[in-house]
Amino acid sequence: MHDPHASYRIDPAMPKPLRYEELVERLDALIAGERDPIANLANVAAEVYAALPDLNWVGFYLAKGGELVVGPFQGRPACTRIALGRGVCGAAAVTGATQVVADVAAFPGHIACDARSRSELVVPIVVAGAVVGVFDLDSPLLARFDHDDRVGLEAVVAAIVPAIDWERATRP
Ligand code: SME
Repeated sequence: MHDPHASYRIDPAMPKPLRYEELVERLDALIAGERDPIANLANVAAEVYAALPDLNWVGFYLAKGGELVVGPFQGRPACTRIALGRGVCGAAAVTGATQVVADVAAFPGHIACDARSRSELVVPIVVAGAVVGVFDLDSPLLARFDHDDRVGLEAVVAAIVPAIDWERATRP
């Protein structure tokens, strides 16, 4: 069976949750002391894309003027704007709940920015009760994301929330 963590480069011998703990530590170190939101979000997207196997897109959509606008990411060019409620990203933004989609072809309204994407995980970014954006990961493999990925990537978002100037990041 495919082990999505098999080639995780931090330390394949460590138990899965510890590997995400280490990723969070790396991200903390990467963005500590920097207040520029584009710089920080770009480095977070790059670090996560490099750290996790079997991804074809990792990045941020930021809530600006009532819609989601693409922010720093790694991968092929993506849809620039997504209406709230549309696609997997829009569903995460409207519900405020993480979306784990094993087969994007079966998700009503999925937006195919990259035809290679087969599964997707989207974590909403909630600050003081408001959704300021989403963190979106796409994989060319079906069912790439399991419960550990969900918990780990929610921890990644929780760790970066205090380090980002969201007012500045979401200015239209
Ligand atoms: N598939 C997403 C759109 C964003 S991209 O894949 C980068 C969605 O349905 O929300």
